[in-house]
Amino acid sequence: MTVLVTGAAGFIGAYVARALAARGERVLGLDNLNDYYAPALKRDRARALGAGADFELVAGDICDGALLERIWREHAPTRVVHLAAQAGVRYSIQAPRAYVHSNLVGFVEILEACRHGGVEHLVCASTSSLYGQNPQQPFREDARCDKPLSLYAATKGANELMAHSYAHLYRLPVTALRFFTVYGPWGRPDMAPLLFARAILEGRPIQVFNHGQMKRDFTHVSDIVAGVLGALDHAPAATGATPYQVYNLGRGEPVDLMRFIELIEIAAGRPALREYREMQSGDMLETFADVSAARAAFGYAPSTSIEAGVPPLVEWCRQYRGHLRGEAGVEWCTSRPSGAPRSSTRHAAHSPLTTHRTDDHRTETVRRRSRAQRARQRDLLAARDRSGADAAEHRMGGAVRRRLQS
Ligand SMILES: NC(=O)c1ccc[n+]([C@@H]2O[C@H](COP(=O)([O-])OP(=O)(O)OC[C@H]3O[C@@H](n4cnc5c(N)ncnc54)[C@H](O)[C@@H]3O)[C@@H](O)[C@H]2O)c1
Repeated sequence: MTVLVTGAAGFIGAYVARALAARGERVLGLDNLNDYYAPALKRDRARALGAGADFELVAGDICDGALLERIWREHAPTRVVHLAAQAGVRYSIQAPRAYVHSNLVGFVEILEACRHGGVEHLVCASTSSLYGQNPQQPFREDARCDKPLSLYAATKGANELMAHSYAHLYRLPVTALRFFTVYGPWGRPDMAPLLFARAILEGRPIQVFNHGQMKRDFTHVSDIVAGVLGALDHAPAATGATPYQVYNLGRGEPVDLMRFIELIEIAAGRPALREYREMQSGDMLETFADVSAARAAFGYAPSTSIEAGVPPLVEWCRQYRGHLRGEAGVEWCTSRPSGAPRSSTRHAAHSPLTTHRTDDHRTETVRRRSRAQRARQRDLLAARDRSGADAAEHRMGGAVRRRLQS
């Protein structure tokens, strides 16, 4: 029985695919590897976290109904974890059509494929952004979510409504998961944790919006993965009431943005150069998840504090920063003025992944690197790291040095 994971080269998708494979599931990944941010990062991530030698990553678009039909014909997935989407609150102001493409058109294609493919359970990603300026904290799933502050949130709200209608009409069991600011190694380069970590490591200024007066319920990716698998294993019953559920997946602990920055400074061994800015349109002041429903339904118990979660993120960033810039010669984030991010199969020709064609669709088999290759890369990174750490020690600002010494 195959589990289809869409967005499997994405941040959360790659971890979910690996966790599913680790417990013995047959996993098929689908991702169009678009260039909203560096496709090289997506490829490296899929390879590094790759679900193993058998893990197949189909490079294709969820809007391609013929491709989905083909996937069901050849692999007959019985469960779907749908994570592919155009993410990001701020980019939805810049490029609204990208959200219509992946989050609306693509979502209907996934629903149709699940309906006709007899899927037993569809788990799909939603977002804390749905809660908007809701003053009731912590956010509970039954709170009103009909005043989105961004098109991104509006498309995710629409997804929940569309999913409910399919659950009602076709008895398709659906679980929507509202994720709260997910962070960790191999994270998204457009999100604050990685933007801050990179800039601080490189001695560049960071932009701190609303003068730092914000709180986020930062959630480590390992907790999110545990939540996704827990939810997947607890499909709403297809008999009786509409088989549809929504759960918050957060840590349940809002953190001051400045505290998060401080932890990055300590892990990086350098002070942040802060540029204070006004609140950005579309942003929320505070997010705080009530996770009691997920706890009651499938034992969700987030366990990674930011004190434990931030240092490995910074360490990964330190290592990967050199790797991506040095070896692939590309930037992490592509800033595209408008429209949908391009799908980037053009990168496939230069990719170290093996590729082969099945009729008109390109399929990639992600293989783990050989042990020798991995060891060689580790040595290179460790050497580069050592010299970088020495230099950083010299440049380190007084405040952080004092904190580190205390
Ligand atoms: N990371 C967070 O903090 C967070 C918070 C709330 C919700 N979410 C949601 O969780 C899901 C995963 O987020 P992520 O952080 O891993 O994002 P991500 O951008 O790293 O992953 C999404 C993946 O989907 C792929 N994709 C996008 N459009 C596609 C299409 N039309 N066809 C095929 N593939 C496509 C992208 O190439 C990307 O690899 C998304 O639905 C996102 O909206 C994430």
